[in-house]
Amino acid sequence: MVAKFPHSRMRRNRSDEFIRQLVREHEVTVRDLIYPIFVVEGKNQRQPIASMPGIERISLDELERELKSLVDLGIPAVALFPKVDVSLKDSTGSEAINPNGLIPHAIATAKACAPTIGVITDAALDPYTTHGQDGIIDQNGYVLNDETLEVLVEQALVCTRAGADVIAPSDMMDGRIRAIRSALEENSFKNTKILAYAAKYASAYYGPFRDAVGSSGNLGSKSKSQYQMDPANSEEALREVAMDIDEGADMVMVKPGLPYLDVIHKVKRKFGMPTFAYQVSGEYSMHMAAINQKWLQESVIFESLLCFKRAGADGILTYFGKYIARRLQQNAE
Ligand code: PBG
Repeated sequence: MVAKFPHSRMRRNRSDEFIRQLVREHEVTVRDLIYPIFVVEGKNQRQPIASMPGIERISLDELERELKSLVDLGIPAVALFPKVDVSLKDSTGSEAINPNGLIPHAIATAKACAPTIGVITDAALDPYTTHGQDGIIDQNGYVLNDETLEVLVEQALVCTRAGADVIAPSDMMDGRIRAIRSALEENSFKNTKILAYAAKYASAYYGPFRDAVGSSGNLGSKSKSQYQMDPANSEEALREVAMDIDEGADMVMVKPGLPYLDVIHKVKRKFGMPTFAYQVSGEYSMHMAAINQKWLQESVIFESLLCFKRAGADGILTYFGKYIARRLQQNAE
């Protein structure tokens, strides 16, 4: 029997800060944060991204500075994303497997200047293709699964050889976790982790990211609905996650984040796997737009991250990573 009012007053435990702290169920800590960083060629580059106020693409010398400050803040890991020159793009995304490309250099730079920070890189072709799709396409524009897999395996090996700690296949092709896992094992990369973008939806919330990596113009009005998931489905997400675990994923991810908290919750409940959420670019931009207009208070940022923890997420990829880590550090001082 649940005690009834006035015996039970739910407000008693909300009366003072001390008791609110004691009964608090969830918490965001710096250990939960994965900070995505966009990199570009060149020197002294800090290029603002119009649709993501406060976020910049940076060159590798700037990356060194950036990573040192992230070490001081205690951020455990970064996810690196490239914007390559258009001249390097082709229909098969061949720059993705160039061992001397931007991302392998960025990985090596990161590992040299901040060896304790985990480095995560995507296995996907969209920053490198002239059509902006994540894989190789046929004459009808259909993204070919198995042909793409071969390139993704090579891309994963190139990144691992450069020093990446975690490979994150992000395109929703079938069979990619097994293919990459097998290749890593065959090449004795026994501790290279795979973060599966296990339930990734065909979402318009990725728009600003595509500006950041320079693929939006390439993709044009085309969608990714033939490989990314239908936002109407959640049972299907469980099948996707089950398959990725079976194929050898170490961590699974749901993406986007806040609009898909139900999926995060279901996935964590059902599988008990390390479960990451990606608060994607469009979510960042929405918050920033409203905060900059003074339509919302800045505290919505913390609130949004707390919601991921409540839903069951372990790690959170968020463009607010540095901001949150700074605020947590200030609060602790
Ligand atoms: C590319 C990739 C995307 C994101 C991460 N990796 C975009 C896409 O699938 O089109 C989105 C991240 C974000 O919006 O912040 N495979």
